[in-house]
Amino acid sequence: MPYVRLGNSGLKVSRIILGTMQYGDPRNSPWYLTEEEAIKHIKLAYDAGIQTFDTANLYSNGESERILGKAIKTLKLPRDEIVVMTKLYYVCGRSPEVSFRSAVPGDGPEENGYVNQKGLSRKHIFESIKHSLERLQLDYVDVLQCNEVLFFKIIACYNICLGHRFDYETPIEETMQALHDVVQAGYVRYIGMSSCYAYQFHVMQNYAINNKLTPFISMQNHYSLIYREEEREMMPTLKHYGVGCIPWSPLARGILTRPLNQQTIRSDSDLFLKNGYKAPGNAEIINRVEELSKKKSISMAQVALAWSLSKHAVTAPIVGTTSLKNLQELIDAIPMRLTDEEVKYLEEPYLPQNVYGPVETHIIRKLSAASTQATTARLVYMAYTLILTINKAWKRNFKF
Ligand SMILES: NC(=O)c1ccc[n+]([C@@H]2O[C@H](COP(=O)([O-])OP(=O)(O)OC[C@H]3O[C@@H](n4cnc5c(N)ncnc54)[C@H](OP(=O)(O)O)[C@@H]3O)[C@@H](O)[C@H]2O)c1
Repeated sequence: MPYVRLGNSGLKVSRIILGTMQYGDPRNSPWYLTEEEAIKHIKLAYDAGIQTFDTANLYSNGESERILGKAIKTLKLPRDEIVVMTKLYYVCGRSPEVSFRSAVPGDGPEENGYVNQKGLSRKHIFESIKHSLERLQLDYVDVLQCNEVLFFKIIACYNICLGHRFDYETPIEETMQALHDVVQAGYVRYIGMSSCYAYQFHVMQNYAINNKLTPFISMQNHYSLIYREEEREMMPTLKHYGVGCIPWSPLARGILTRPLNQQTIRSDSDLFLKNGYKAPGNAEIINRVEELSKKKSISMAQVALAWSLSKHAVTAPIVGTTSLKNLQELIDAIPMRLTDEEVKYLEEPYLPQNVYGPVETHIIRKLSAASTQATTARLVYMAYTLILTINKAWKRNFKF
C-alpha cells in the first residue's frame, strides 16, 4: 500500500481511505452494514494496508463513529499508526431514526430542539468533538473536518432547505479560533474542510494563516469522473495553499461501477442517486467506463478508481462499499494505471453541470420546482384577474 503526505503536512495517509458512512443502524438506511459486518470490512482494509478511516458525527447519528471505535478496540489497531478522520457540523440525532437531511420546512432541527447542536460555533465545535471522542473511545482524532448543515432560507414565497459545509451564521473568526483551540486542547491533531465554495475556503484559510491559527491540511470535496466542477476553482486553490484533496464519492456513489440503469438497494433509497448525476454527458461517460473495463478486463469500479488516482490533484480518494469482495477489488485497483489516451477518452464527454457539494442537487431541484410552482401560481392569478376584468367590462357593455 502506498502512503502519501496529506498536502504539505507531515501526516501520511493510505492511497485510498476507507469511508465508513455505510456502517450504522439500518433504520437510517437499508444499505447500512451493522457492527459485525463492518468490523470484517475494517479488518480486511487494515490487513491490506489501509490505515486511514473517514467517519462523521452525523453518519447514522453517531453509529458509524461508535462502530469504528469498537473495531479499533476489537482488532487492537495501533493508535499511533492509524489515522482517524471525523467531521462535525450537522445535527447528530438523539435517536437512530432522526434525520433532517430532507427536512420539511417548519419541521427542521430548531423546531425539534436542536438549536445549538449544529454549525461551526465555538459551542458546537467543543461539544461535537467531545461526543465524537466518546463514541470512538479515543483520546484524540487525527483530522477534524467541517462537514455540513441544513438551514432554512426564505426564497420567493417558499421556505427552502439548503445544504452547506460553510456556516453562514457563525463568524469565520469564531470558527477558526475554536478549531485552533480544540487542536491546542489535544482533542484533535489537524483540521480539514469539506465541500464549500473556493472563496469560502480561501477566506477561512487566509484568516487562520494571518492570525497564526491552525490552518486546514485537507479538503474533502465531491470529485469523480462524472462530477468535475471542482477543477475550476477549488483544485487550483488547494494547490496554492498546499492542501491535500481527499474526494468523497469518487465512484459517484456506485453509478460509475455498473452499467447504466442497473439498480441496487442503495440506488433506490439514496436521495442523491435518485435526483443527482443526471447531467448530459454522464451517460456517455458511464458507457465509456464500461467499454474500457471490458477492453482491459478489469471492473468498472477499478476503471473509475484508476481515473481518480491518475489525477495529480487527488491525494487519496475516500471509497465506500458494503461488500468485502468489492473492497478487495478496490484495493487491487491501486497499482492499475490508465494511459493518457484512456484518461482523455473517459473525460471527453463531460459537460459543465450544477454545483453539487457546496449545495446539494436534490435541494437545487426542490428550489427550481418551487420557482416553477411560484411562476405557475402567478400565471393562474394573472389569468384569474384578467377574467374578472373582462367579466366586469362585459357587464358594463365594455364601457371602461
Ligand atoms: N464530506 C461529505 O460530504 C461526504 C459525502 C459523501 C461521502 N463521504 C465519505 O466518502 C465515503 C465514500 O462515499 P460513497 O459511498 O458515496 O462513495 P463511492 O465510493 O463513490 O461509492 C460507493 C458505492 O460504490 C459501490 N462500489 C464500491 N466498490 C465497488 C466495486 N468494486 N464494484 C461494484 N460496486 C462498488 C458500492 O456498492 P457496494 O456497497 O455494493 O459495494 C457503493 O454503492 C463515505 O463513506 C464517507 O466517508 C463524505
